[in-house]
Amino acid sequence: MSMSKILIRFIQFFLFLEIYRKPFLVALQPPLVNLGEKVTLECRSEIVFDTFILTSHKNGTIKDSLELTAEHHHGGSQANFSIGPVTPDDAGTYRCYGTFNHSPYEWSESSDPIDIKITGLYKKPSLSALMEPVVMSGENMTLTCFSDLQFDMFHLSMEGVPKDHGLPSVKSHNGTFQDSFHLGSVVQAGNYRCYGSFRNSSHLWSTPSDPLYILVTGKKTSYIPHIFYHSESLCLTLGFTICCTVHPKCCLSCLLSPEPSSYFFNSSMCTSPLFKHFLRCG
Ligand SMILES: *[C@@H]1O[C@H](CO)[C@@H](O)[C@H](O)[C@H]1NC(C)=O
Ligand SMILES: *[C@@H]1O[C@H](CO)[C@@H](O)[C@H](O)[C@H]1NC(C)=O
Ligand SMILES: *[C@@H]1O[C@H](CO)[C@@H](O)[C@H](O)[C@H]1NC(C)=O
Ligand SMILES: *[C@@H]1O[C@H](CO)[C@@H](O)[C@H](O)[C@H]1NC(C)=O
Ligand SMILES: *[C@@H]1O[C@H](CO)[C@@H](O)[C@H](O)[C@H]1NC(C)=O
Ligand SMILES: *[C@@H]1O[C@H](CO)[C@@H](O)[C@H](O)[C@H]1NC(C)=O
Repeated sequence: MSMSKILIRFIQFFLFLEIYRKPFLVALQPPLVNLGEKVTLECRSEIVFDTFILTSHKNGTIKDSLELTAEHHHGGSQANFSIGPVTPDDAGTYRCYGTFNHSPYEWSESSDPIDIKITGLYKKPSLSALMEPVVMSGENMTLTCFSDLQFDMFHLSMEGVPKDHGLPSVKSHNGTFQDSFHLGSVVQAGNYRCYGSFRNSSHLWSTPSDPLYILVTGKKTSYIPHIFYHSESLCLTLGFTICCTVHPKCCLSCLLSPEPSSYFFNSSMCTSPLFKHFLRCG
């Protein structure tokens, strides 16, 4: 083969890669879709394809495919696939491909996949935080999801977006099934929810738990514990402030404030609604 033929092959190969480069698939709503709701998947490419094909995969095989004529914008192309009102059958992994009318059987490389989970199939679990759902920025937090249903897995979402992977459920001493999610040191403020699912259908999730709002307070700059006595209460300031009072009948009541230690503590704050009853006399 002559040098120029090699060069032409080389260029053809790169043109081929360029033409069939994978499109992008994005979900225009969070990928956790409640039974009966709709979700739109947008397939787009910098390449001017004629048609986009959306495939749904279940159990590793293509279950269904949809075709839409591409719309051309700004030198690229896109199509919006509307799915729903969803049924359990719509759960699965979706991918999209681009094609040209002159060669409809040659598809581009596949887009990255999107997992669509259908929620609302089983009774909702409960989500709780061990302590107050208030965390200092940079600190860890643990959330517990539990249910009396024997779910195989629990999952956590933040503002409707699944967080990490689910965890296999653990039977607790009181007969409920539960999991503890350690949020690590980068806790984001927002509404957290949890879900349960069974092994037979990993894309079908329960109704979401009631939301738990996690509040993240200011950065811990000076983190020096400070203990002081304040009108019959013993107080400790350590990023937050807690004041405890021993009552005549020997019970203890405490007030917890989520405010960071940089806030100056004074007696008027003790009666402020900012302070929450932490432990009450039984
Ligand atoms: C999924 O595939 C496995 C084997 O690959 C098979 O045993 C199972 O029945 C399939 N499940 C469904 C729902 O098709
Ligand atoms: C798809 O939906 C997005 C968001 O609503 C919109 O910006 C875009 O123009 C739509 N594209 C098509 C081809 O309808
Ligand atoms: C936060 O969690 C990580 C990983 O679980 C652990 O290594 C670290 O010690 C924890 N930090 C605190 C302050 O608990
Ligand atoms: C079981 O324990 C969890 C905490 O681990 C608690 O929140 C829940 O209320 C308990 N359930 C029953 C039925 O006691
Ligand atoms: C999966 O198993 C659970 C519990 O055994 C059952 O309630 C549920 O209906 C099953 N789901 C499917 C899709 O088979
Ligand atoms: C005490 O704190 C409150 C609330 O932050 C503030 O409004 C008030 O001025 C403070 N009083 C004194 C004496 O510093």
